[in-house]
Amino acid sequence: MIVDLQSYLSEKCILTDAALEEYLPRADRFPQVMFEAMRYSVLNGGKRVRPILALAACSACGGDENAAMPTACAVEMIHAFSLIHDDLPALDNDDLRRGKPTNHKVFGEATAILSGDALFALAFQTITDRTNGVSVAVILEVVRRIAAASGTSGMVVGQVADMISEGQAISPQTMEFIHRHKTGALLEASVVCGGLLGGGRPDQIESLRSYGQSIGLAFQIADDVLDVEGEQDKIGKPVGSDVGNSKATYPSLYGIEKSKGMALQAVGDAVNALRVFGSEADPLRALARFVVEREL
Ligand code: IPE
Ligand code: IPE
Ligand code: MG
Ligand code: MG
Ligand code: MG
Repeated sequence: MIVDLQSYLSEKCILTDAALEEYLPRADRFPQVMFEAMRYSVLNGGKRVRPILALAACSACGGDENAAMPTACAVEMIHAFSLIHDDLPALDNDDLRRGKPTNHKVFGEATAILSGDALFALAFQTITDRTNGVSVAVILEVVRRIAAASGTSGMVVGQVADMISEGQAISPQTMEFIHRHKTGALLEASVVCGGLLGGGRPDQIESLRSYGQSIGLAFQIADDVLDVEGEQDKIGKPVGSDVGNSKATYPSLYGIEKSKGMALQAVGDAVNALRVFGSEADPLRALARFVVEREL
């Protein structure tokens, strides 16, 4: 399968955005400000990498992508929640996200915190209420994996490790722990859950798990590189935020060139992990390359 990645991404982005629009409560009810804040941070662009990975993994396993859409959107809601909180003054204190003022700049800190909390809960409600044509056992497994990837085995614990490592000289092991948890875990869960919802065989799920872990690491290394070398107009967030916050990053530990090499290596590992698949996994292969080639 020859994948024109740009058209693939825009087609899947349109489908995902339409589903998110449907799943998010409208902002015409009390208290409007919470619904407006939730919608502001979800329906404001974004590459939709996590949902697209879930859809691509579902289809690589021969499944109907509609079965994965509620979970794909749930991960995007958790991602949006993580970004709202990540930008708060108590964390990275950033004013710009996806080219617009951050949630707390528009709605205030209290509403930003609470709308993030609401998105986290809505994610699980979306999976349980909206998934069709999949066994309850698979839905339960998906919920279990996404909960683990969000909290004490994933994003939140990674964010805590990131926060306590500011200004510290950390080991390569701690550096890798941060990236695999704060960012890698949710990316891996998106891929694996997409495969589970697509009826993937155990060997396919194992392959997706390994692919997801590798692109998860590569994705955050690339994010660190963009924080140094990117253009604000393209990345839609402040360049140099990490240096400003004395963050422990791959470039701060290894330098830019070595970091790029490590990201490329991880992408190679990801593509190798897809050996059990034929051309049905070509979109996943193209997405792996996108992770390091992207400019935003
Ligand atoms: C940014 O994620 C935060 C990280 C976890 C690296 P993305 O680069 O996926 O951001 P959006 O969703 O496209 O804005
Ligand atoms: C954030 O990492 C990862 C999250 C879990 C939100 P960063 O702090 O580097 O993400 P950006 O650069 O602000 O998007
Ligand atoms: Mg951060
Ligand atoms: Mg940040
Ligand atoms: Mg960053």
